[in-house]
Amino acid sequence: MSKAVIFDLDGVLISTDKLHYKAWKAIADQEGIYFDEEINNRLRGVSRMASLEIVLERSDREYSQEEKEKLAEAKNDIYKESLKELSPKDLFDHAVETIAALKEKGIKVAIGSSSKNTRTILRQLGIEDVFDAISDGNNITHSKPHPEVFLKASEFLGLEPEDCTVVDDAYAGIDAAKAAGMTAVGIGDATNYEKCDHTISDLYELVDLMEEN
Ligand code: BG6
Ligand code: MG
Repeated sequence: MSKAVIFDLDGVLISTDKLHYKAWKAIADQEGIYFDEEINNRLRGVSRMASLEIVLERSDREYSQEEKEKLAEAKNDIYKESLKELSPKDLFDHAVETIAALKEKGIKVAIGSSSKNTRTILRQLGIEDVFDAISDGNNITHSKPHPEVFLKASEFLGLEPEDCTVVDDAYAGIDAAKAAGMTAVGIGDATNYEKCDHTISDLYELVDLMEEN
């Protein structure tokens, strides 16, 4: 049985897709670059700079490193402004109940997110203090599908990777979990991915799943 659940944040506990979309769309419009929701879906689980590279694929000119950094910063300023609107009611159904039930069973809970805004988001959602460990975009050099963010989470928990179960909504997250040697549970978009060990449609299904695995 796994000793811990490592939750991805965006798309697992909360949906920030629209907020990312609005911020990237503003940058793309400013630069005259085509951008739509389908391209936005490709940014799931991917770091800010890697996301920018995807946005710039549609541009007909090259950007210097300095220009890229400015664009990423401008996107983040818009995104951070929109995070101020988040509140506990934005949490997905049964997120709080699931975390509480897992802890009740002695299962540790952690966050494994590529976002550098993880702590701000958790604070806005009122759940910053419930996790035993938080591994995020600030403590990694390689973004998902690299396993680093999840390996760091298990290290922070003091557990072996094989003792951890990851829940992620992105293909990149499932790949990262498998590369880390962890059990991978897909939710949302990732339920279509054959690499998932399990799939769930509601977070609370994790409680029974953890007893079986
Ligand atoms: C991930 C999102 O959680 O965080 C990605 O799924 C995003 O879409 C990435 O690009 C980085 O986020 P941030 O907050 O560090 O810009
Ligand atoms: Mg996600």
